[in-house]
Amino acid sequence: MWNTHWGLGIRLVFVCILLVTMAHECAGGGNLTTASCYEQERLALLKFKLHSIKDDHGMLSSWGVSNDCCTWERVGCDDATRRVVSLHLGEKVREDKLLDRVGLLVEDSYLVGGSINSSLTELVSLKHLDMSGNDFQRSRIPKLIGSLKQLRYLNLSGACFRGNIPHEIGNLSNLKVLDINSSPYDSQESMADDMSWISGLSKLEHLDLSGVDLSRIQNLDNLLYTIPSLFTLSLSACGVSMAHLGSRHPNSSKELSKFKHLDLSENDFRGQLPGLILNMTSLSFLDLSKNNMSMVWSFENFINMIPSVSELRLSGCWIQNINFSPTNLNFTTHSTIQHLDLSFNEIEGIFPFVLTNMTSLVSLDLSVNKLNSSIPAIPYLNKLDISWNSFRQIEDVGIWRQCHLQELIVSYNYLEGERLAH
Ligand SMILES: *[C@@H]1O[C@H](CO)[C@@H](O)[C@H](O)[C@H]1NC(C)=O
Ligand SMILES: *[C@@H]1O[C@H](CO)[C@@H](O)[C@H](O)[C@H]1NC(C)=O
Ligand SMILES: *[C@@H]1O[C@H](CO)[C@@H](O)[C@H](O)[C@H]1NC(C)=O
Ligand SMILES: *[C@@H]1O[C@H](CO)[C@@H](O)[C@H](O)[C@H]1NC(C)=O
Ligand SMILES: *[C@@H]1O[C@H](CO)[C@@H](O)[C@H](O)[C@H]1NC(C)=O
Ligand SMILES: *[C@@H]1O[C@H](CO)[C@@H](O)[C@H](O)[C@H]1NC(C)=O
Ligand SMILES: *[C@@H]1O[C@H](CO)[C@@H](O)[C@H](O)[C@H]1NC(C)=O
Ligand SMILES: *[C@@H]1O[C@H](CO)[C@@H](O)[C@H](O)[C@H]1NC(C)=O
Ligand SMILES: *[C@@H]1O[C@H](CO)[C@@H](O)[C@H](O)[C@H]1NC(C)=O
Ligand SMILES: *[C@@H]1O[C@H](CO)[C@@H](O)[C@H](O)[C@H]1NC(C)=O
Repeated sequence: MWNTHWGLGIRLVFVCILLVTMAHECAGGGNLTTASCYEQERLALLKFKLHSIKDDHGMLSSWGVSNDCCTWERVGCDDATRRVVSLHLGEKVREDKLLDRVGLLVEDSYLVGGSINSSLTELVSLKHLDMSGNDFQRSRIPKLIGSLKQLRYLNLSGACFRGNIPHEIGNLSNLKVLDINSSPYDSQESMADDMSWISGLSKLEHLDLSGVDLSRIQNLDNLLYTIPSLFTLSLSACGVSMAHLGSRHPNSSKELSKFKHLDLSENDFRGQLPGLILNMTSLSFLDLSKNNMSMVWSFENFINMIPSVSELRLSGCWIQNINFSPTNLNFTTHSTIQHLDLSFNEIEGIFPFVLTNMTSLVSLDLSVNKLNSSIPAIPYLNKLDISWNSFRQIEDVGIWRQCHLQELIVSYNYLEGERLAH
């Protein structure tokens, strides 16, 4: 009898402690009410909607409809804690991108804002913030973004920011993805004068600074050597040259071997392959388009130097026939290139035969050159683009040799009246 009472009593006490703890947590943890989001976070989101941005396209029309901000569109909450963990405020690009019924071009929707309101810093658990494609009207990226300490993903690409990138971003030590790509529309409007803050991002894996003017930076090498986890780096149209990335580093072969994806297009590299790429032994994607690679080098040697690369883009590099004159005959064994872009170059006359020995090739883009004769069969090729060349007759293309292709694009040649594409 006594035992039963004691047992019940202990259980009651336990239940009470549990209830008190829960009540305490609910009151103390930011005014959470049952099955709703945190009041403070709800108000912060509404403040952002009403005072920071203009929402002419009704992207945030569901915000404020219910009291539970976790049910609002573009807001993601943690199921257990009900904290806001993600905001997907990227421009909503219409999937169809077609004319609507009255014949008007359907506009993409986006937000317009003067600044990101400080209210967002109240979202203390925010991990994923996507503001891409909105129009922040050439304001600076606010420093306060550095206080969103839990961020893993930050996308500010194409959002019309300008001015210096705030060093405070270096405080986001959990960040894995940082995308501030501002090319092509606002290229060089943003800039950085110093990159030492980047070393604070020790978990970063993906960095895109394309279109950010980095030409004045002395310590750009930090980007390559100080972040142990970084494997995707895009620095397209950053005003970067050999002088920025050419300096040697004691452990470079080890540190550079982690890179898989490198975009250095539209910069000021000249003539030769930037030497440090040779130490990027895991590289599978390399884009050097729109650099002036016109100095005499051999394409084969070039390919042999980057044996791991499977996608190579050399569009608009002023490449000429002389770059394809053969030097090594053992080239076949080395090549792993599947996708090769040689569009917008100076290749004229006969097809560069050295490419026929690239048995790994799956797609080849030779559009916008001056080829006019004899395309040979390239055994494993699926896709060939030779549009905008100088072919006069369909016989010159050698189309009967190309039956294995899934896609052949020959439009915009001088072929009499013919326009082929399948
Ligand atoms: C949350 O509760 C505290 C005290 O319980 C109160 O002072 C505060 O104003 C409340 N905050 C909101 C946003 O309602
Ligand atoms: C943020 O919103 C508040 C209103 O809640 C407003 O007073 C303030 O000016 C805004 N700040 C910025 C930087 O837009
Ligand atoms: C950032 O957003 C843009 C536009 O929505 C998208 O194309 C891009 O892939 C995003 N970047 C990353 C790293 O997810
Ligand atoms: C945030 O970054 C700035 C500039 O890099 C620095 O001065 C500041 O101490 C940092 N704050 C915190 C809390 O780490
Ligand atoms: C080079 O690597 C060694 C051994 O891994 C390390 O002790 C040293 O600090 C590294 N040096 C630099 C400059 O990173
Ligand atoms: C490549 O790595 C080797 C070995 O660590 C080093 O001696 C050389 O300087 C590196 N080259 C470049 C361009 O970083
Ligand atoms: C590219 O470089 C070559 C050789 O250095 C030079 O003759 C040519 O004018 C350059 N082309 C452009 C467009 O800069
Ligand atoms: C291929 O050519 C390179 C450079 O001429 C040479 O070092 C290498 O031994 C050759 N490889 C084969 C398999 O013949
Ligand atoms: C093909 O192009 C080469 C190099 O530009 C030129 O010399 C040749 O005359 C052209 N042939 C024809 C048939 O147009
Ligand atoms: C292609 O490779 C074969 C054998 O490996 C060689 O005999 C031939 O010269 C090569 N052709 C070109 C254009 O490099």
